[in-house]
Amino acid sequence: VRATGRRPSNARKTMTAPERFMRLAVALASAGSDQIGDQAAVGAVVVKDGRVVGMGARLAAHGPSAETAALQAAGPLARGATVFVTVAPLVEEARELMAHGVAAVVAASLDPGREERLRAVQWLRERGVAVDLGVLEDEALALNEVARTTARTGRPFVTLTASVTWDGKIATRSYDSRWISSQAALRDVHELRSRHAAILVGARTARTDDPELTARVPYGRHPVRVICDTSLTTVPDDARVLTDGKAPTWVFTGRHHDPARRAALVARGIRVTVTSGARRVDLVDMLHSLKEDGLASLLVEGGGEMHAAFVEARLADKIVLYVAPKLVGGRAAPTFLEGEGLSRMQDAVRLERVTVESVGPDLKLTGYPVYPES
Ligand SMILES: NC(=O)c1ccc[n+]([C@@H]2O[C@H](COP(=O)([O-])OP(=O)(O)OC[C@H]3O[C@@H](n4cnc5c(N)ncnc54)[C@H](OP(=O)(O)O)[C@@H]3O)[C@@H](O)[C@H]2O)c1
Repeated sequence: VRATGRRPSNARKTMTAPERFMRLAVALASAGSDQIGDQAAVGAVVVKDGRVVGMGARLAAHGPSAETAALQAAGPLARGATVFVTVAPLVEEARELMAHGVAAVVAASLDPGREERLRAVQWLRERGVAVDLGVLEDEALALNEVARTTARTGRPFVTLTASVTWDGKIATRSYDSRWISSQAALRDVHELRSRHAAILVGARTARTDDPELTARVPYGRHPVRVICDTSLTTVPDDARVLTDGKAPTWVFTGRHHDPARRAALVARGIRVTVTSGARRVDLVDMLHSLKEDGLASLLVEGGGEMHAAFVEARLADKIVLYVAPKLVGGRAAPTFLEGEGLSRMQDAVRLERVTVESVGPDLKLTGYPVYPES
């Protein structure tokens, strides 16, 4: 794999032409990235004599490929052109590129589906099509974190998020949490929601906060609302998620749930799925069920017990924390991560690829957990 065009993200220099065309391909890919399920987000730009003559993106899981859309737009100009793609083609797309007489392909990354894509790259090279790999690779990989994780694990990509005070609390000692974040951070949370296929809270959050769990975003869409209620007796009948009909609500429960409650929920059009869990909802069962229904990304929005369950099971792929400049204190005030906790610091879950952004007066911290060897 030859890496071209990579540089430290803080370096300032004029973008090279390949970077410029690839940035356009990345932007196109990102337009479809949250509407293609577990498929790779692909953008394609056809360049002839230094001019963009066609572009396209994958916009639906089973829709036309980015290459098909871009080649169609380019028409006869595709002959002898270079095609910039965020992810190297699969064999079928490679054949299409060949059939249109493309001279060269520049691909940002080989993932997801590395082995198959390497075969397609080899196939193209054997037929005289130049293939260059690695331009803006990090951006393409980040864009495809959902597809890469679902391909590796067979379950949805899981992001944990919470609003915390500077002293790490997600609520006061009386479980009051409205509102920790600034308006700007709340708007950001809604954007985050609208980019996920599903949003989950624990039974206790559903009961105490009675959240709506919709994405209040102009032109956005609501995720499926997921509630984990082991016995089906914690979340009250009149909870908004069970009554407002603003988005689908799916309740996951344990095997010892209350059957009468289940029947009542189903009669009201709420989908109830029984997992194998005895004391708690089994998270692995739940994730596989979501994946089977085509939901590839899940945002877990608390509370601390729910977050801890995901981290303890090593099922959290990404953490997004909004830190508000407030202090509430209190031994009994819940934190972002509850559960049993660890006894030794050397067993801590580290976060890598950490970024920090300002959102109004709050800080937005993003990181990816690295679980210690067990
Ligand atoms: N600041 C924020 O961003 C934010 C976000 C959310 C919540 N909160 C706050 O967090 C507090 C509630 O948090 P919490 O930690 O007490 O409760 P929680 O995490 O919301 O809910 C925990 C409950 O979920 C149920 N559950 C089912 N399956 C589970 C599993 N596999 N693992 C863990 N729990 C499972 C259990 O209740 P059953 O046994 O009854 O099923 C469990 O007691 C509230 O004060 C709320 O305001 C703050």
